[in-house]
Amino acid sequence: METGGGLNEAKRWVEELVGRAARVASGAELSKLREAAGDRGSPLSSLYRSMKAIDPALRPEVGRQLQELRSQLDSALEAASAAVLAQEVEATLEAERDDVGGYLCRSRYEGIGSLHLITMTRMELEDIFVALGYAVTEGPEVESEWNNFEALNIPKFHPARASQDSFFLDFGDEESTLLRTHTSPVQIRLMQAQKPPIYAIAPGRVYRRDTPDARHTPAFHQIEALVVDEGISFANLKATIESFTSAYFGPSIKARLRPAYFPFTEPSAEFEITCTICGGSGCRTCSGTGWIELGGSGMVHPKVFEAVGIDPEVYSGFAFGFGIDRLAQMRAGLPDMRVLPENDLRILAQFRGRR
Ligand code: DAH
Repeated sequence: METGGGLNEAKRWVEELVGRAARVASGAELSKLREAAGDRGSPLSSLYRSMKAIDPALRPEVGRQLQELRSQLDSALEAASAAVLAQEVEATLEAERDDVGGYLCRSRYEGIGSLHLITMTRMELEDIFVALGYAVTEGPEVESEWNNFEALNIPKFHPARASQDSFFLDFGDEESTLLRTHTSPVQIRLMQAQKPPIYAIAPGRVYRRDTPDARHTPAFHQIEALVVDEGISFANLKATIESFTSAYFGPSIKARLRPAYFPFTEPSAEFEITCTICGGSGCRTCSGTGWIELGGSGMVHPKVFEAVGIDPEVYSGFAFGFGIDRLAQMRAGLPDMRVLPENDLRILAQFRGRR
């Protein structure tokens, strides 16, 4: 019977294909191999077709061996296809690695993160004030209307109270709450919590219903400073503002005060510094004036002392507040403040390692 020869030939053929499958290195090679395996003229197919002619006594055994060869071939092809797929995935990942966003992948390898520019700025300013003898404190972002407005002598009709300027959370009959619109309510908390002398700053996030633009974002950061002691004068306020601005911006930057109005200070002043972009000669950023406004300041209003039970006959004090984001923006030379909350690593990474 000639089945012996046919079976051997089929075995050799399957062996050869299994060997090729183990070495397959590309999708194209795999397709060729599949084609060869499916060839209707192959020794395996011929053997299937000649089954009817085989001695019925031998047929079951030959059939079993044929099945085994078939499944050897199938599993070799399956393994080859899995291997090719894995190679392709690997190659695609390798080729597209930088397209995903070069900085993300690099940071995975370098493993370097960094504090946000605003955090670094806040910490640097805290250090400056700590060196001047100030304590660092904090207040909550959800504040009572009384702390945020009333106690600061901001009357009911003041525009800052209007809902279009503030994020009110709860209009209670007794007491409304809102996202604080400034860090000044921490002044109230400080004076309620401790007796003078008080030398403290309060950094933190504040919220206003501002439409974002190059100089405004609806959530931003401020630092409030409060000093209450015996014999504190306006000259102390001016000297303090000069010290901290030159510590942060460098000695070539000068500070000046201009009369202003704030309900919780009297007298009040806005403080400005030499424009960091043009150095004072006048440019677009400073609208040609050579000066940039940084924040508000003044002597603590007697009404505020009254609200917290401090005797204005014994004590006097000053307060000022300014935006951390604005300071960061000016020293870093960022034309647009909106990049700060956007957290684009291509921008933030430039300030990495400063702290
Ligand atoms: N809270 C004011 C604001 O956000 C800034 C300010 C003005 C703070 C005068 C003060 C101050 O402490 O004395 O616009």
